[in-house]
Amino acid sequence: MNEYSVHNTEQEAAAPVCEPERQYYYIEKAKAYLEKMSEAAGRPLTFCVTTFGCQMNARDSEKLTGILERIGYVEEPDEEKADFVIYNTCTVRENANQRVYGRLGQLGRIKKKNPHMMIALCGCMMQEPEVVEKLKKSYPFVDLIFGTHNIFKFAELLATRMESGRTVIDIWKDTDKIVEDLPSERKYPFKSGVNIMFGCNNFCSYCIVPYVRGRERSRDPKAIIREIERLVADGVVEVMLLGQNVNSYGKTLEHPISFAELLQEIEKIDGLERIRFMTSHPKDLSDDLIRVMADSKKICRHLHLPVQSGSTRILEKMNRRYTKEGYLALVDRIRTAMPDISLTTDIIVGFPGETEEDFLETMDVVKKVGYDSAFTFIYSKRTGTPAAVMEDQVPEAVVKDRFNCLLQVVQEISAQRCAIHEGTVQTVLAESVNDHDSSLITGRLGNNLLVHFPGDASMIGKFYHVHLRECRGFYYLGEIASED
Ligand code: SAH
Ligand code: SF4
Ligand code: F3S
Repeated sequence: MNEYSVHNTEQEAAAPVCEPERQYYYIEKAKAYLEKMSEAAGRPLTFCVTTFGCQMNARDSEKLTGILERIGYVEEPDEEKADFVIYNTCTVRENANQRVYGRLGQLGRIKKKNPHMMIALCGCMMQEPEVVEKLKKSYPFVDLIFGTHNIFKFAELLATRMESGRTVIDIWKDTDKIVEDLPSERKYPFKSGVNIMFGCNNFCSYCIVPYVRGRERSRDPKAIIREIERLVADGVVEVMLLGQNVNSYGKTLEHPISFAELLQEIEKIDGLERIRFMTSHPKDLSDDLIRVMADSKKICRHLHLPVQSGSTRILEKMNRRYTKEGYLALVDRIRTAMPDISLTTDIIVGFPGETEEDFLETMDVVKKVGYDSAFTFIYSKRTGTPAAVMEDQVPEAVVKDRFNCLLQVVQEISAQRCAIHEGTVQTVLAESVNDHDSSLITGRLGNNLLVHFPGDASMIGKFYHVHLRECRGFYYLGEIASED
């Protein structure tokens, strides 16, 4: 791979030093290159950003898309047809990595046939040095590689690639920087994710996120409010506040502010109708937050509260810093304040040393809490995390049995929980035309459940009162009772 070092290039004196001005400068440069490339191709060039991983990555992809559209690329949803393919990767579990390698092989074959094609890789996987080594060795056709900390430099890196014609690799180990006010393109006109913090300081012993996303950094509350106000002025009615542990928001700011206080400020924004957030770490969920949620008209009655395991012994080995009893007591406080709240969770099965007894503790929590839904994961060993070298890794067959058992109970309980709203009328945000039947609109309740009801595309982004006629396990069929 003919690598081009971005640090040692003689960047022309004209490039501003300050961000985001510097990136706007490179957007213009890349635009000029792209015009030449399009002329040579005799057609507009297209791009496709593919997101692996969580909502943070999805939001980052919107930022990449915003920059690409400014540069003049046209979106092409089919990555096999696009001239510029960007994989925004995830490394939280091994199978996320395998998917990237598999699809990259396929992309390499397509690139051979399209002389205009470029491939970029970014996101969490790129923060692992052995991944970048493997890419250099086995996938030399990749044009651009960058990480999570310097994603704001995308325009600059792309312009460098276009100018040099050589592979550009730029990965930062960590950062304390937050660059505001870069372009971004929303997937939905009426709702948007909003980062309130980056990184994570929790170091749960199984988890790679703190290593690939760096230390926790909270955005300035004023910058968050300003972003949401702009979004609302642009038609957004719902925001999802994003952070790996939103409950510790603001603790490291020069003028500390709590997550509960931030929510109260956001609630005041006129025209904003729904506020969601994720993810909440149980250890930091304050009574203030419960009170603010209970008093709020805009915060959705939904909490994603990952438990990971029901066994206090395993929770300790996971470094989660709460006990089974502590978690259940917290759930009690939440339910007492908001009896109608929907609770969802993440659970890991097969953490090193997990015994049958430990697993039964997890089943016990699942039954006691009665989650509206739960994401269940098989433990995946991540090199570099403390759990990877723990003794007593659980045999695969045992894990699979436990996983299936858990999944069945989780599904039964969610179906029961879903059914309790049958026959009621609820406020629903119309989100999209139904994939399978275009005479139906798919909408979302405050508690995050979906309902399909007759309607058309003109309704998208508006609120309706919908009669939930029939529960179908995990979603409803309904009909409009009235417009909100
Ligand atoms: N910050 C969030 C979760 C981020 S990762 C939180 O703390 O809740 C999303 C989920 O992936 C985690 O909740 C966990 O259940 C799962 N996960 C993380 N690392 C994993 C691993 N090594 N193996 C299996 N699942 C894992
Ligand atoms: Fe990973 Fe734990 Fe941080 Fe969540 S809180 S991102 S599980 S280390
Ligand atoms: Fe994956 Fe990175 Fe999110 S590892 S889960 S995309 S923070």
